[in-house]
Amino acid sequence: MAGAFDPAAVDRFIGDRLLGGDPTIAAARAANQAAGLPPIDVPDPLGKLLMLLARAIGARHILEIGTLGGVSTIWLARGLTEDGDLVTLEIDRHHAEVARANLTAAGVSDRVDIRVGPARQHLQTMLEEGQGPFDLAFIDADKQSSIAYVEACSQLVRPGGLIVVDNVVREGAILDEGASDPRDAAIRELYGYVAAHPGLDATALQTVGAKKWDGFMLIEVSGRND
Ligand code: SAH
Ligand code: DHB
Ligand code: MG
Repeated sequence: MAGAFDPAAVDRFIGDRLLGGDPTIAAARAANQAAGLPPIDVPDPLGKLLMLLARAIGARHILEIGTLGGVSTIWLARGLTEDGDLVTLEIDRHHAEVARANLTAAGVSDRVDIRVGPARQHLQTMLEEGQGPFDLAFIDADKQSSIAYVEACSQLVRPGGLIVVDNVVREGAILDEGASDPRDAAIRELYGYVAAHPGLDATALQTVGAKKWDGFMLIEVSGRND
C-alpha cells in the first residue's frame, strides 16, 4: 500500500540513501543562509542529476547562468572532466562573493570563472568573441530572460550538448494563459519558443520534494535543424 503524500519525507529518504549527507554542500548552504542569500538553490537530488548529466556526456566546458551561492555550481563542477572548466554568470556582487568562498571551500575554485554583471551582456560578449563551445549549460537566473538565455545557449552549446532550465513548472502557474506574474508568462512562452526551434529537442519533468511543485526542462542542442 502506498504511504501518505509526503514528498519532503521522500526527498529526505532519497537524500539519506543516495546522496550520503554531503558536508561540502551543507556548508555552502549554511554560508548562504548566514550571508542572507535566499534559499533558492537547487535541491540535492537535482544538483546530483546535474553532476551525473555532466559526467554522462563527458562535459569539459560548462556554462551556468545564475550562480547565487554556488550550490549548483559545485555540483556541476564535480561533474566536469579533470581538465574541465566552468563559467558562471551572476549579476549580484554579494552573491558572487559568497559563491567564491563556497567554491574555494569545496575545492573547485580553480576550475570556475565567476563573471559578475548582467548575464545578457556577458552572453553577448561571449557570442561576439566566439567563446565556447560548451558541452552543458544550466539556466537558473531571472525567469523573464529565459528565452534570451536559451537562444544564446543554443549558439554557445555544441551539437549534442545539453541545456537544463530550472523552474519551468512554477506550481502549475505556466498553465495560466493570462499569467500576471511576468516570470510565469515568460516560462510559459519558453515552451513555445523551444518547441518551434528547429535545432532543439526537449522534454520537461515536474518535481516535488522539499521544495514546492516545480520542474526542469532538458534540451538537447541537436544541430539537426529538424
Ligand atoms: N543556480 C543557483 C541558484 C540561482 S538563484 C543554485 O542552484 O545554487 C538566481 C540567481 O540569478 C541569483 O543569484 C540572482 O542574483 C541571479 N540573477 C538574477 N538576474 C540575473 C541577471 N540578469 N544576470 C545574471 N544573474 C542574475
Ligand atoms: C526562485 C528562483 C529559483 O531559481 C528557484 O529555483 C526557486 C525560486 C524564485 O525566484 O523565487
Ligand atoms: Mg532555480
